[in-house]
Amino acid sequence: MRTDGDSWDINTSVGSTAMFVAAARALAGRRPGALAVDPLAEVFVRAAGAEWAALLDGELPDHPLSQPGFGQSFQQHQLARTKYFDDYFHAATAAGVRQVVILAAGLDARAYRLSWPGGTILFELDRPQVLEFKRETLSAHGDQPHVDRREVPVDLRENWPVPLRKHGFDPAAPTAWLAEGLLIYLPADAQDRLFETIDSLSARGSWVAVEQMDPLPVEAVAAMAEHSDDNDRDRAEWFSLIYNDPRTDTAEWFADHGWTADRIGLDDYLREQGRPVSSAAPDAGPSGLISLVTAVRP
Ligand SMILES: C[S@@+](CC[C@H](N)C(=O)[O-])C[C@H]1O[C@@H](n2cnc3c(N)ncnc32)[C@H](O)[C@@H]1O
Repeated sequence: MRTDGDSWDINTSVGSTAMFVAAARALAGRRPGALAVDPLAEVFVRAAGAEWAALLDGELPDHPLSQPGFGQSFQQHQLARTKYFDDYFHAATAAGVRQVVILAAGLDARAYRLSWPGGTILFELDRPQVLEFKRETLSAHGDQPHVDRREVPVDLRENWPVPLRKHGFDPAAPTAWLAEGLLIYLPADAQDRLFETIDSLSARGSWVAVEQMDPLPVEAVAAMAEHSDDNDRDRAEWFSLIYNDPRTDTAEWFADHGWTADRIGLDDYLREQGRPVSSAAPDAGPSGLISLVTAVRP
């Protein structure tokens, strides 16, 4: 179970979820006509050791990401959110924003993968060992960021604006914020504080994009607690890392605070992109509970 102030590296606890989503992106990007491709995801996964590499090489048929129900649905989910948030950054920078903050950046390689207008500064916030693994792995692979990338090692449950400002963040400049794959790892009150902080640091013309998951139904939680095989055990472990408490709806929160907010369910987004929706398949996991939100402060 999670505790206040618990910590991790890329192989443990919440840190390992960054590797899990990177592995999903690496597998999903190989599909013909994939909605989005993140070539650096495979670099991280292979650097993480033989077991992760075996997953990419198709040698772990029992791994959750290899399962036809959950694995396919989760991979599709990762492609959708990668495309949605890549497009979000293109739109925000096309509108003139030159300051970017990626909260819980994990193995997000957008600083290295996307092209950014000259003068853009991109801050990545996560636990120190996660950011270190990313920098060292990509540097050993010969990759350099395409932007002024600044690492800000923090705990997002604490007072992170202080280190963010120390690294050069300017609250008077419009910012494009991203929280992808983060909210479920924060208790509901920490999510509220996060939104309040984003709001207080956002000049007019700022943007924010968020991935939100509605709480899992009580029956799903009870079923997860009774794990009987490896697959169920993986899910129970994942469940022990998340906070499933009822929480503020992201789009409503930002709309109530004067932002113009748009929310789309992941399934609807996939349909809009002409892609199959797999969240209704048996064993598909929680993808049907996900929404993607963008808000702009006029
Ligand atoms: C599922 S990963 C998502 C990473 C990345 N945003 C992506 O989508 O690929 C969750 C990330 O949240 C980070 N994280 C969760 N809680 C955090 C906290 N309290 N402080 C800093 N980072 C946190 C973890 O270290 C991990 O990198």
